[in-house]
Amino acid sequence: MDELLSQRIKKLSESQTIAMARRSRELQAEGIDVISLSLGEPDLNAPDHVKEAAKKAIDDNWSHYPPVAGYPELRKAISEKFKRENGLDYKPDQIIVSTGAKQSLANVILSLVDPGDEVVILAPYWVSYLELVKLAGGKARFVTAGIETDFKTSANELDEAITHDTKLILFSSPSNPTGSFYTKDELAAFAKVIARYPNVIAVADEIYEHLNFEGKHESLAQFPEVYNQVVTVNGVSKAYAMTGYRIGYIGAPTWIAKACDKMQGQITSGANSIAQRATIAALETRNRG
Ligand SMILES: Cc1ncc(COP(=O)(O)O)c(C=O)c1O
Repeated sequence: MDELLSQRIKKLSESQTIAMARRSRELQAEGIDVISLSLGEPDLNAPDHVKEAAKKAIDDNWSHYPPVAGYPELRKAISEKFKRENGLDYKPDQIIVSTGAKQSLANVILSLVDPGDEVVILAPYWVSYLELVKLAGGKARFVTAGIETDFKTSANELDEAITHDTKLILFSSPSNPTGSFYTKDELAAFAKVIARYPNVIAVADEIYEHLNFEGKHESLAQFPEVYNQVVTVNGVSKAYAMTGYRIGYIGAPTWIAKACDKMQGQITSGANSIAQRATIAALETRNRG
């Protein structure tokens, strides 16, 4: 009956990281000693105060539908996090909480990319970027950097990859899979290029912000000339060892935030209420310092 499946799902590849993780679990179940280098899973459990907040949320009956975009207290805590850790001004109505940063990315890509639009992906790249672009009917254009440049693209190379059809630029810093990260100067050079293309939106995936062993994390959205062209993606999976809670978020221009709200209003009705309450506890401890 496979032929009944849509062209959309037929064209989509299985998530390679999830396939590798499943295989390593199968081998572990057979008693084989496996070191899994598949999912980006911190080697820690969620912090105790986060677990307590999740248990309390159950007891306090946070069991009803949450607001689609996220609880106001959580959007406020994220707004404060952006300010404190990244120097970014995102008001709560510019923030959308989703079921992991993966859904945040899916919302943004599906909200912005039409069939035929080009998406510039800085490579090496996280495997899901391409599949999400395919799901939206977009065409990926890769800019591939090698080991000689520490796997980083230059502003010139980025400029050369942008065409009349470019809608989005997609990159992660710190990068999965390379671990490289863009410095403030390098991002400033990107910002200069991007500002010359006002119809291009850049998606800065900062999910690995706190797994950076080399230098200070910097955000593309800090540069005023591109602030209105940047979507900043982040979440608590890696920073707080909360991968299973499935909470990610974006800070974005309001018109993009509204589109993502509309998108997930039809797909999930919002992220899990207990996980959202636990995320407030995670972010507030750091916001309080
Ligand atoms: C670069 C990158 N972005 C986003 C994600 C998604 O994170 P999550 O959906 O767990 O928040 C991952 C997960 O591995 C990732 O590696």
